[in-house]
Amino acid sequence: MRLKDKVAIVTGGGVGIGRAYSLGLAKEGARVAVADIQEDEARKVAAEIKRLDGEAFAVPVDVTSPEKTQAMADETVKRYGRIDVLVNNAGLYTVLKKKPFTEIDPEEWDRVMAVNVKGLFLCTKAVHPVMKKQKKGKIINISSGTVLGGTPYFLHYVSSKAGVIGFTRALAREVGADNICVNAITPGLTISGSNQEGVLTPEQREDRRKRRSFQRDQYPQDLVGTVIFLSSDDSDFITGQVINVDGGANMH
Ligand SMILES: NC(=O)c1ccc[n+]([C@@H]2O[C@H](COP(=O)([O-])OP(=O)(O)OC[C@H]3O[C@@H](n4cnc5c(N)ncnc54)[C@H](O)[C@@H]3O)[C@@H](O)[C@H]2O)c1
Repeated sequence: MRLKDKVAIVTGGGVGIGRAYSLGLAKEGARVAVADIQEDEARKVAAEIKRLDGEAFAVPVDVTSPEKTQAMADETVKRYGRIDVLVNNAGLYTVLKKKPFTEIDPEEWDRVMAVNVKGLFLCTKAVHPVMKKQKKGKIINISSGTVLGGTPYFLHYVSSKAGVIGFTRALAREVGADNICVNAITPGLTISGSNQEGVLTPEQREDRRKRRSFQRDQYPQDLVGTVIFLSSDDSDFITGQVINVDGGANMH
């Protein structure tokens, strides 16, 4: 078990890819705070981990709230005494409709930035004092392959995920002295459950498959190994990096 005695928070950990991160980290021995705005889903995942003899609890969080993100960190420390890993996974993605940028209203733009960028800032701010005191921590930010490809009709989303990369690099410089690693992952289009029905047409899925070196669909499990690696001591000298996990679609 590579994460024995570690404590991890996974935001958006109750649904989709975040659920797979929660389960995967727990399988490697981490105690997991499954943090989600969908509290019932977070509870289900925590219960599933316990059934598999892992350790987890569900914590409700809205990542746009300074109070709720602080409460998430406080509750985790109260339960498990430390925070080793923060996976900043919560995001607005499957709920967004693709449309020309001229049709994105300013409120929707602000909401995407609030969850997908400010959310990372607030969660990081909440866990940082704990990691600093421990003289070690791992922050893993979930960006998106849409940044590499410049996916059209998704301007707010792609801009927010580009923001995640800037956030990762600048933060890595600031917290290096605290021995905190900050890295990002750019997942390719992943069949996460939520985006399966209605959002992706069979043609779009076929198109994505063809663009990859490995010509198959990408699933949450394809991303879990990278999150475990970035959470583990094996990646202690890696920081400020963006790791692309997309089956060889993008190669820059
Ligand atoms: N599925 C993909 O193809 C893909 C590709 C690249 C990146 N991503 C990113 O991976 C992450 C997970 O994607 P997914 O497909 O599982 O999406 P999803 O919509 O299934 O999951 C998003 C999660 O974030 C949570 N969430 C939303 N707003 C929140 C808030 N204000 N506070 C707390 N939690 C909140 C949701 O409850 C949910 O658990 C997202 O950041 C997404 O942008 C997904």
